[in-house]
Amino acid sequence: MMGTANTPVLLSHRAAQSRSSVIRELLKLTEQPHILSLAGGLPNPAGFPIHEIRKATQRLLDPSGEIAAKALQYGPTEGVEQLRHLVAERFNCPATGVIITTGSQQALDLIGRTLIDPGDVVVVESPSYVGAMQAFNGWDPQLVGIPGDRHGLRTDLLEERLRRGLEPKFVYVVANFSNPSGATLSDARRVHLADLADRFGFVIVEDDPYGELRWEGTEPAPLRARSERVISLGTASKILAPGLRVGWAAMPQWLVDPFVRAKQGADLHTSTLNQYLAHELLSDVAGQRARLGASVARYQQQAMALHSALVSELGSAIDVAPAAGGMFLWARMTADFIDTEILLQRAIEHGVAFVPGSAFFVPEQASMSREYLRLSFATLDPDSLAEAARRLKAAVESFA
Ligand SMILES: Cc1ncc(COP(=O)(O)O)c(C=O)c1O
Repeated sequence: MMGTANTPVLLSHRAAQSRSSVIRELLKLTEQPHILSLAGGLPNPAGFPIHEIRKATQRLLDPSGEIAAKALQYGPTEGVEQLRHLVAERFNCPATGVIITTGSQQALDLIGRTLIDPGDVVVVESPSYVGAMQAFNGWDPQLVGIPGDRHGLRTDLLEERLRRGLEPKFVYVVANFSNPSGATLSDARRVHLADLADRFGFVIVEDDPYGELRWEGTEPAPLRARSERVISLGTASKILAPGLRVGWAAMPQWLVDPFVRAKQGADLHTSTLNQYLAHELLSDVAGQRARLGASVARYQQQAMALHSALVSELGSAIDVAPAAGGMFLWARMTADFIDTEILLQRAIEHGVAFVPGSAFFVPEQASMSREYLRLSFATLDPDSLAEAARRLKAAVESFA
């Protein structure tokens, strides 16, 4: 039977299945001006290189120069050569394995397209980046969540599952300052994970938007240095500006052609002008170091302000570790009668918002998520962060 205008029978099964979450609907409320939002995952616009992008655009679009016509023309699907080479240098890998993507979000979707057949097992850390689960879900995998802790994915639990017969196509990790947990995968677990990938024959997807936002300690060697079965993702979003929509993926050679064909079907190529802009800014090594240094110092100050305000306002009611980098604090409410989805509703009434933990877990594990919350410190100044913590305390007290 044909549908009427309001019975969307023409939707594909996949589109009809996709649902906006209750949390997403609640978070729309947080856009009101009186709400102090710790919910967003946006970088701080104070770090956007506005003047440098303006100057670089002028240089690139000089009508007498060589680049202007190229920067406004269709380009190769793989990406602008200069930028591929720059990424290859950063990743210490061959440029032939580097594809420029429209944000790393597109790379996640293209990985889904090229690796997932319906029903294939894909392992994500619990908790994991919502956007990755959304991208993979578009290709009908069986998502399996393996718990993580403050040192990242519990590779011992993964090994146990593998020994019992789990056969993932790939394992997805945000190995540095994860979104949402803020955790960094320890050196020992990186070695273990790489070893498991080689022994059990799966691919590791190492997504790393936050690794350069580090103010304490040193970065463990990346997974790609430990196994050839790694796809590494990076992005200009947190180190330049997300509006550029420039990301990159470094992959084993066997994946390059299928990945490029999938990207061709999706968007032909990433914005040429924006790729040239990213190249101009990132190849100015001293300038980029200075800009990144200023951003990292700002995030550190914000992270410390929020952490100390949460500890002093909420005391033992909250368990939250300080951050050594990234954009998020991951916290646990210690009283078992507080469900953070309900806390969010109360918090919004008190003028503050966060993302409840349930958003970041595969559905089967949603029940173990109820006590968690993700708090972003990236966009509010230290005074507002202190006020946000006071409001959160008031919301918590309303449970008494
Ligand atoms: C872990 C992770 N991966 C990927 C992305 C997507 O970033 P983009 O598409 O802007 O590169 C985000 C965005 O917040 C993220 O947190």
